[in-house]
Amino acid sequence: MPNERVATADSEADSPLAKQAAWLSKYQFGLHLSEQGTVVSLGDGIAWINGLPSARMDEVLQLEDGSRALVFHLAKNRLGTILLRQTKRLTAGTSVFQTGKRLSIGTGNALLGRVIDPLGVALDDAGPLSFSSYRPLDVRSPPIVARDFVAQPMYTGNKIVDTLVPIGKGQRQLIIGDNGCGKSALAIDAVINQRGKNVYCVYVMIGQKRSAVVNTIETLRRMNALAYTVVVVAEATAMPGLKYLAPFAGCTVAEAWMAEGHDTLVVYDDITTHARSYRELSLLLRRPPGREAYPGDIFYLHSRLLERSTRLSAKQGGGSMTALPIIETEQGEIASYIPTNLISITDGQIYLDHQLFARGFLPAIDVTRSVSRIGGKAQHPNIKKEAGRMKLDYLQFLELEVFTRFGSRLEESMEKRIQRGQILREILKQELLSPLNIEFQMAWLVAYNEGYFDNIDLAQVKPQLTLLQEKIAHAHISIEEGRDQWKSIVHNTQ
Ligand SMILES: Nc1ncnc2c1ncn2[C@@H]1O[C@H](COP(=O)(O)OP(=O)(O)OP(=O)(O)O)[C@@H](O)[C@H]1O
Ligand SMILES: [Mg+2]
Repeated sequence: MPNERVATADSEADSPLAKQAAWLSKYQFGLHLSEQGTVVSLGDGIAWINGLPSARMDEVLQLEDGSRALVFHLAKNRLGTILLRQTKRLTAGTSVFQTGKRLSIGTGNALLGRVIDPLGVALDDAGPLSFSSYRPLDVRSPPIVARDFVAQPMYTGNKIVDTLVPIGKGQRQLIIGDNGCGKSALAIDAVINQRGKNVYCVYVMIGQKRSAVVNTIETLRRMNALAYTVVVVAEATAMPGLKYLAPFAGCTVAEAWMAEGHDTLVVYDDITTHARSYRELSLLLRRPPGREAYPGDIFYLHSRLLERSTRLSAKQGGGSMTALPIIETEQGEIASYIPTNLISITDGQIYLDHQLFARGFLPAIDVTRSVSRIGGKAQHPNIKKEAGRMKLDYLQFLELEVFTRFGSRLEESMEKRIQRGQILREILKQELLSPLNIEFQMAWLVAYNEGYFDNIDLAQVKPQLTLLQEKIAHAHISIEEGRDQWKSIVHNTQ
């Protein structure tokens, strides 16, 4: 339709009539096209909508009652959407409008110390959040040319992880194990260990009970870790859409810091619940189910998420995003669908074993089944050398120990090895919320390899380690120092 201009008829400049005429004279007639959809059916966190033929995948829709939905599935004549916000007034028949926008979340330092939902709304009592920048939730991962090798260590403060399954900045390391084996505890310790290390942390909690959410936040606060951390929460009672979006929200927040050149650490606790939420949404929206009723693109979904963790090249600012996705297994079964997917996507796994847990070996990390495929390159050569010796001893001991269960008589040298192994197992135990610095890790490795712990009782191991820790805290020795230097300091403790 051609635009028309209405001419002013009045010339009296001040009269109301003249003002109206002036307004009218500037008014542009034009064609405004807008589609209006209608909610056809509703339930379990999803809505079917018809009447919006030009809506696109991942577009945010605004509903008349104030609810919001995200286009998730395009069917013939209908849209399958997941609800992001639902008011009590939402019913079938409610009108729906397009926004033309994709879902995005506010990012930046305003988030530090805050608890938010996956849409960036504050869940704590520290007031509303205001952002200067926003990023879309679902973006492509950085291209190969923008990436660099994983070359710097990301210390978790855990004895076994930092020595035997080391993690590098930009690595994706899976934490896998049965429920209640200490998966979250390990991840929380890793976050606490970043205090004063200039690493921004994001802890994503997906589908957890409110009591667990409160506990985690309280622990982070108590350990002064909340100041450099943002907690993204979609608790068990949240809509499935929010649980599905939570890891992407956390990833986006970390990505913004990574783009600014910072190192970041993201924990996804846990991906099993995320996969279940995605399956629930997909089944409700009648997508064809595949293995274990998961939709066929679940592998793509998780790899899309985890591929965004990387270390950027110096040209791109050199930032990094280390990811610790958590997977819960059933009866230690790591060969089921989601665990195998995640194992193949990530750069290694830390396996927590419920039998070790029951025997009181805490943290219950099974050294034989845990690997880090790229972290070794980031490990300091001094630690690597010492850890290699210790690992060999430990693996041999575990093998020998099996024989002793049959009550067979052993040679004296074997007995000695077993004794040494038992002491090592005692050394490797670590209490909750007590991350250790890398200097102490070096100290106990040297002390063990030199045999300084050999002739003590098992009960004496812990006090000896405490003594060593105090000594190292005052020694001002760096990891770069030669072995002799370390030996002399460690020796003096005994
Ligand atoms: N190193 C440790 N020393 C002592 N207790 C520990 C240690 N690690 C974990 N625990 C205890 O084990 C219990 C389970 O830990 P946690 O909640 O981290 O396990 P999880 O695998 O995350 O469980 P879920 O599957 O329910 O999420 C907790 O009560 C925790 O205090
Ligand atoms: Mg947990």
